[in-house]
Amino acid sequence: MAINIFNFLVCFSIASFVISSNARRVLDSKNVDGNNGGSNFTHVCDPSRFSDLGLDVSTFGFCDSKLSYDDRAKDLVDRMTLAEKVRQLGNSAKGVPRLGLPKYEWWSEALHGVSNVGPGTYFDDLIPGATSFPTVILTTAAFNESLWKQIGQAVSTEARAMYNLGRAGLTYWSPNVNVVRDPRWGRATETPGEDPYVVGVYASNYVRGLQDVKGTENATDLNSRPLKVSSCCKHYAAYDVDNWLGVDRYHFDARVTEQDMAETFLKPFEMCIKDGDVSSVMCSYNRVNGIPTCADPKLLKETIRGDWDLHGYIVSDCDSLEVMVNGHKWLGDTKEDAAAQALKAGYSKLITLGMDLDCGVYYTNFTQNSVRQGKVKEVEIDRSLKNLYVVLMRLGFFDGNPTFKSLGKKDVCSKQHIELATEAAREGIVLLKNVNETLPLKSKKIKKLAVVGPHANATAAMIGNYAGIPCQFTSPLGAFSSYGEVKYEMGCDGVVCANDSLIFPAMKAAKHADATIIFAGLDLSVEAESLDRVDLLLPGYQTLFINQVAQVSKGPVILVIMSAGGVDVSFAKQNDNINAILWAGYPGEEGGHAIADVVFGHYNPGGRLPLTWYEAGYVDMLPMTSMKLRPIDSLGYPGRTYKFYNGSTVYPFGYGLSYTQFNYTLRSAERSLDIKLRKSQHCRDIEYKDNEYKPPCPSVLIDDLECNHEFGFGIEVKNVGKRDGSEVIIVYSKPPIGIAATHTKQVIGFKRVFVKAGKSETVNFVFNACKSLGVVNYNAYNLLTSGRHTIMLGDDVVSFPIQLNIKE
Ligand SMILES: *[C@@H]1O[C@H](CO)[C@@H](O)[C@H](O)[C@H]1NC(C)=O
Ligand SMILES: *[C@@H]1O[C@H](CO)[C@@H](O)[C@H](O)[C@H]1NC(C)=O
Ligand SMILES: *[C@@H]1O[C@H](CO)[C@@H](O)[C@H](O)[C@H]1NC(C)=O
Ligand SMILES: *[C@@H]1O[C@H](CO)[C@@H](O)[C@H](O)[C@H]1NC(C)=O
Ligand SMILES: *[C@@H]1O[C@H](CO)[C@@H](O)[C@H](O)[C@H]1NC(C)=O
Ligand SMILES: *[C@@H]1O[C@H](CO)[C@@H](O)[C@H](O)[C@H]1NC(C)=O
Ligand SMILES: *[C@@H]1O[C@H](CO)[C@@H](O)[C@H](O)[C@H]1NC(C)=O
Ligand SMILES: *[C@@H]1O[C@H](CO)[C@@H](O)[C@H](O)[C@H]1NC(C)=O
Repeated sequence: MAINIFNFLVCFSIASFVISSNARRVLDSKNVDGNNGGSNFTHVCDPSRFSDLGLDVSTFGFCDSKLSYDDRAKDLVDRMTLAEKVRQLGNSAKGVPRLGLPKYEWWSEALHGVSNVGPGTYFDDLIPGATSFPTVILTTAAFNESLWKQIGQAVSTEARAMYNLGRAGLTYWSPNVNVVRDPRWGRATETPGEDPYVVGVYASNYVRGLQDVKGTENATDLNSRPLKVSSCCKHYAAYDVDNWLGVDRYHFDARVTEQDMAETFLKPFEMCIKDGDVSSVMCSYNRVNGIPTCADPKLLKETIRGDWDLHGYIVSDCDSLEVMVNGHKWLGDTKEDAAAQALKAGYSKLITLGMDLDCGVYYTNFTQNSVRQGKVKEVEIDRSLKNLYVVLMRLGFFDGNPTFKSLGKKDVCSKQHIELATEAAREGIVLLKNVNETLPLKSKKIKKLAVVGPHANATAAMIGNYAGIPCQFTSPLGAFSSYGEVKYEMGCDGVVCANDSLIFPAMKAAKHADATIIFAGLDLSVEAESLDRVDLLLPGYQTLFINQVAQVSKGPVILVIMSAGGVDVSFAKQNDNINAILWAGYPGEEGGHAIADVVFGHYNPGGRLPLTWYEAGYVDMLPMTSMKLRPIDSLGYPGRTYKFYNGSTVYPFGYGLSYTQFNYTLRSAERSLDIKLRKSQHCRDIEYKDNEYKPPCPSVLIDDLECNHEFGFGIEVKNVGKRDGSEVIIVYSKPPIGIAATHTKQVIGFKRVFVKAGKSETVNFVFNACKSLGVVNYNAYNLLTSGRHTIMLGDDVVSFPIQLNIKE
C-alpha cells in the first residue's frame, strides 16, 4: 500500500510537470517526452534523466545494458500495471512516468524522404525541410538496387539528424510494397510497380538502407541487431483498391485465390521480411476473403510470425479497428450500439491474433475492459509490448546510439542528398519515343524554347504524396530557363484541363520557338490515396492541347508525361509532329533539373517502365474489383500485369529507350540441371493443356527440396552507339510450354550497367532454381517443374533454354 501511495505521488508530480511543458516545441531538459520533446533528450536510460525524475536508474533492470533486450523488455513490462500497459498500445504511447518511461509517438513516415505526414515528425525554423526524392514509382524505373539502398541511407541519415534535434521519431511506416494489380489504382505512385519480385527487391533494399547500421548487417541474433531507424512494409495484404466507382477500401472485401496470394500479393512482404529483415509490418484496411486483415490470425500470426519469422512489431493501418467496426461491420453487427458492444470482443481479441500496436485509440480505450471481462489474456498484451520495446531498444531509444550522435542540421538537405535526388530522377526517367534522334537537343542550336503545359512550372506535383517539405524545388520552367530564352504557357488550367481557353497562347509560343517542350500528365487530383482512376486517358482537353501545339510548332516537339500510372498516349506515339516522349513519373524536388539534363543530353536515359501501359479500352474489359491475375475466359476478362496479360499495350512493362544502342552476346550459360529425388520426395502431377507433352515426373514440391541447385550465365553488353549510357538487363524465366494457366514469363533478376561508347561490360547472373523457375499451382503449391524452361533477356534480345530433369 505504502508503495502504491509513493508511486502515485511520483506520478502526480511528473504529470503536472508534463502539463507545464506541454508545447511540443519547448526545449526543456526535464521534459519526459521521447522523440519530440526537445533536443536535450538523449536516451531513456540516461542516469541524469532518471535522477531529475527522482529515480535511481540502477534499480531498473530494463536499463541494465548487461541484460539481453528480451530480458530488459520483460523487466519493463512486468513493472507495469494493466492500466499502464494499455496506454502504450496506441501510436501515441503515453509512457509511464513513475518508471521513467517517456511517451513515444510511433507514427512517422519516410516513403521518399522524411515526411511530416505522421505526427511523430515536424518541420520548423530549425529544420524547414528535408530532401524529397522522386516518388517510388520513378525511382523503381531506375532498376538500380544500389540507388534504392542509397536513398534509404540518405533518408535515414536525415531522420536520425532530425531525431537528434527532437523533430522526428525513430519508427517509419514506409515503404508501401503492394503490387499494382490494376492500372487504375490511385496509389501506384507510392509503389515499386506491378511485378512482385521487383517490388520485393525494391523493398528489401530500401528497408536495408533505412535500417542497417554499418558493420552489423549480418548479425545473427536478429532480436538485438541494431537499427538506424525502423522501417515498415505495408499494407498487408491484397490491398490495392482505394476508391473506385464508390467501392472503397474501408468496405472492400478482396476475394483472392490462394494461388494469387502466394504468387503475387504476399511475395513482396515475404521478401521484405526474409531479405530485408524489416522490423515492422502494417496490416491493411480491406478484408481478404471476408476477414479484415488486421483480425486474421492466419495472415498475422501464422504467416508473418510463423512462416517468415518477423523480428519486430505488427501495426494496424490508422483507425483500422474503427474501420472494422463501422466499415466492415465485422462479426455481422448491424446496429451501431450493438457493434460497439460486440466488437469490443472482436477487437480485444485482435491482440491475441498478433497485431501489436494500434494506430488509433481502440486498443488504448477498450483493452482494459476486455481483459477484465475475460476476453483477452493479459499475457498477450505483454507479448505485444515486448515486441515493441525490443524494437525501441534496437534503435538505441533506451541506451543511445553513439554512431549517430553527431548527425544534425548539416546532414539534412545536404548537397550530396540533393544531388542524389537529382540522380535518382535522371536514372528513372524513361525515354518512350525518339524519332530520328530528336533527343538530345543540341543546346547550341536552340535559342528560344517554348515550355508549355499544366506541369511546365510543376513544383508540389513533383513530390506526390507522403512527402515532407522539400529543401527547395527546381521546376521544369526554372531548369529550362538556363538553356535559352523561354516562353512559358500553361495551355491548361491545371491537369484537369477543363476547357480549351488557354491553348491558343501555348500554340503561339510554340510557333516561334526553336523547340517545344510540353509538360502534361496527371497529379494527385486524378490519382491518389482514396482516389482511383476510372480511365487511362489524359484528363479533359490535354490531348487536344498537345495535338494543337504539336501541329503548329516550329521546332521539334518533346512531350514529357508526369504520372504514376500508365497513360494511353497512343495519339502521341502515332503523331509524327511529336518527335519524342519522356515519362518522368513524379520526379521529386529536383525534377526539372533532371528532365533538362536528359533533354539536353547531359544524361543518357536508361529507365524502364515498372508498369504495363495498357490501352484505354483495357479498363472496360474488367472491373477493378476482380482480384484475379489470370484471365477469366468465361467473363471475357483479360489477365493482369505483363505476367498474365497477352493483349496489345501502348508500352509494355520493362520498356525504355536510350540515346545509344546496346548489343548482347551470351558468354556462358548452363543448359541443363538434373535433380534426383530421394525416397521422401515425390513427383507431383501438374496440369498441362490438352495434347501437350507432359514429362513423366512433371514436378516436385519446392518445400521438399534443399533448393541448392543454381544456374547462371554471363552476358556481354556492348555499347555500339556513340554515347556512354546505362543499360538495364531484365532477366525473365518462362515455364515449359504446355503447363496450364501459368504466367507467360516472370522477372527473376535485373542489373543496371554503365557502358562507355564503344566498350563492353560482362555481367554475370546466378540464380537459384527453386526461386527462379518455380510455378505456383492453382492449389497454391509452389512447384519446380520438369522440362524445357526458357531464360529470356529484355524483350527477347537473347533467349536460351534450360532443361530441368527431375528423376525419381
Ligand atoms: C546506380 O546508382 C548509383 C547510385 O547509388 C550510381 O552511382 C550508379 O551509377 C548507378 N548505376 C548505373 C549503372 O546507372
Ligand atoms: C554481409 O553479408 C553480405 C553478403 O554475404 C556481404 O556482402 C557483406 O560484406 C557482409 N557485411 C559485413 C559487415 O560483414
Ligand atoms: C478514446 O478515449 C478518449 C479519451 O478518453 C476519448 O476522448 C475518445 O473519444 C475515445 N475514443 C473512442 C473511439 O472510444
Ligand atoms: C512558378 O511556380 C512558382 C512556385 O509555385 C511561382 O512562384 C512562380 O511564380 C511560377 N512562375 C510562373 C512564371 O508562373
Ligand atoms: C476556362 O477556364 C478558365 C480558367 O479556369 C476560366 O477562367 C474560364 O472562365 C473558362 N472558360 C469557359 C468558357 O468555361
Ligand atoms: C525521319 O528521317 C527520315 C530521313 O530523313 C525522314 O524520311 C522521316 O520523315 C523522318 N521521320 C519523321 C517522323 O520526322
Ligand atoms: C491470349 O489469351 C487469350 C485468353 O486466355 C487466349 O485466348 C489467346 O489465345 C492468347 N493469345 C496469345 C497470343 O497467347
Ligand atoms: C548489333 O546486333 C545487331 C543484331 O544482332 C547486328 O545486326 C549488329 O550488326 C550489331 N552491331 C554491332 C556494332 O555489333
